[in-house]
Amino acid sequence: MSDKATLEINGDKFEFPVKIGSENEVAIDIKALRGATNGVITIDPGYKNTGSCESAITFLDGEKGILRYRGYSIEELAEKADFLEVAYLLIFGELPNKEELDKFHSDIKSHAVVDDDIKKILDAFPKSAHPMGVLSSLTSALTAFNPSSVDVNSDEAMYNAIVRILGKFPVLVAWTMRKKHGLPLDYGDNSLGYVENVLKMMFKSPTQEYEQNPILVNALDKLLILHADHEQNCSTSTVRITGSSHAGLFVSLAAGISALWGPLHGGANQAVLEMLEAIKEDGGDTKKYMAKAKDKNDPFRLMGFGHRVYKNFDPRAKIIKVAADEVLGDLGVEDPILDIAKGLEKEALEDQYFVDRKLYPNVDFYSGIIYRAMGIPVEMFTVMFALGRLPGWIAQWREMRMRKEPIGRPRQLYIGETYRAFKPIEKR
Ligand code: SDX
Repeated sequence: MSDKATLEINGDKFEFPVKIGSENEVAIDIKALRGATNGVITIDPGYKNTGSCESAITFLDGEKGILRYRGYSIEELAEKADFLEVAYLLIFGELPNKEELDKFHSDIKSHAVVDDDIKKILDAFPKSAHPMGVLSSLTSALTAFNPSSVDVNSDEAMYNAIVRILGKFPVLVAWTMRKKHGLPLDYGDNSLGYVENVLKMMFKSPTQEYEQNPILVNALDKLLILHADHEQNCSTSTVRITGSSHAGLFVSLAAGISALWGPLHGGANQAVLEMLEAIKEDGGDTKKYMAKAKDKNDPFRLMGFGHRVYKNFDPRAKIIKVAADEVLGDLGVEDPILDIAKGLEKEALEDQYFVDRKLYPNVDFYSGIIYRAMGIPVEMFTVMFALGRLPGWIAQWREMRMRKEPIGRPRQLYIGETYRAFKPIEKR
């Protein structure tokens, strides 16, 4: 592979360095393009062909359906690790030993209380508010109660900000759900594991002890691992570009939560369930929805299908599909929605439109079926995605700041009006 790429514009040739990643991916470094060519830029809506950064956190191979966190395969991590281990791995780059993991969890627990005044902000929301909008607001509000902006040059200050948000975020997640369901706002129990504590804060009834169900703990732990990072997806890119202006970690995360909410991104897991419910109401008429998804005049898309990077199976979808059968079986839940989902997947994988466009089930296609079987309300599905993605967002924000990345500021190709003189109102 040559270490140079040549661009010819109007007969002039320009050379740019070629960079090779550790997985032999190839990138043309166009940092010097505009200067060397007297103002020429590239344009790439949605950044489908454009790398925003170099990163050592997560590797995806969309053609082969590979996903690795810091070199470890998602299959092994989902099987053998727990969520807190994976969070540590993503953020600090190595799997923790027992002492490091125990200290990490203990430090997180020491920050697992949220200022009571945050409840006043939560009270101001109507019960009808979508939990993702509430979560984004409360996460941003944390800055008001923890004003120290992060000194990224101090390992200690960075570490403290990380364990602080990992301690407080699950409380906010639980509070968004309890607020909607008119339940008292609970704090966690430091005698519990990270995921056990999340479930207890979410589901504990004020009138009885909460009994842990290991099936739910294992299912949620696995789902959070599968959602923990995914390189430069929409919400992670939002976290990075927000942080690139040196805005604080908490507000950068709040921006990421807002981006994740969109139905084309994390909001898809809620949209998938709503779509499957609609198909069920329609007597299971999957063909009607397949036709809608292929109709260019119909804005409807088959939610949970397709992916910017995976042009093969999303490895997470494969794992979640197996887990859906296991969890529903273990819980003794019969959900016709699962059969409809499997039928829809089978049809789509045999349909030329989907085959031609390499559209496969993504992480959001089956996850909602498990969340629902666990008793998690559909409007909380994307909040659970955010809880899983939190360590990935933190890791990516930290990497961007520690690599001293420049402020993100893309250029544009102007296609508007050329100069025209001002026209007084009487002449318009
Ligand atoms: C996530 O990036 C990440 O890593 C995200 C994520 C993560 O972990 O962070 O993996 C999480 O966001 C998963 C994706 C969840 N979204 C959905 O399930 C929504 C439905 N999917 C689509 O909207 C779409 O597939 C996207 C948004 C996921 C990807 O869109 P792209 O890459 O911009 O692809 P595109 O819109 O250019 O589509 C290419 C073609 C088009 O048809 P043509 O114009 O070529 O004829 O495929 C069609 C699209 O119309 N198409 C679909 C489709 N997805 C793409 N047609 C019907 N149903 C779909 N779901």
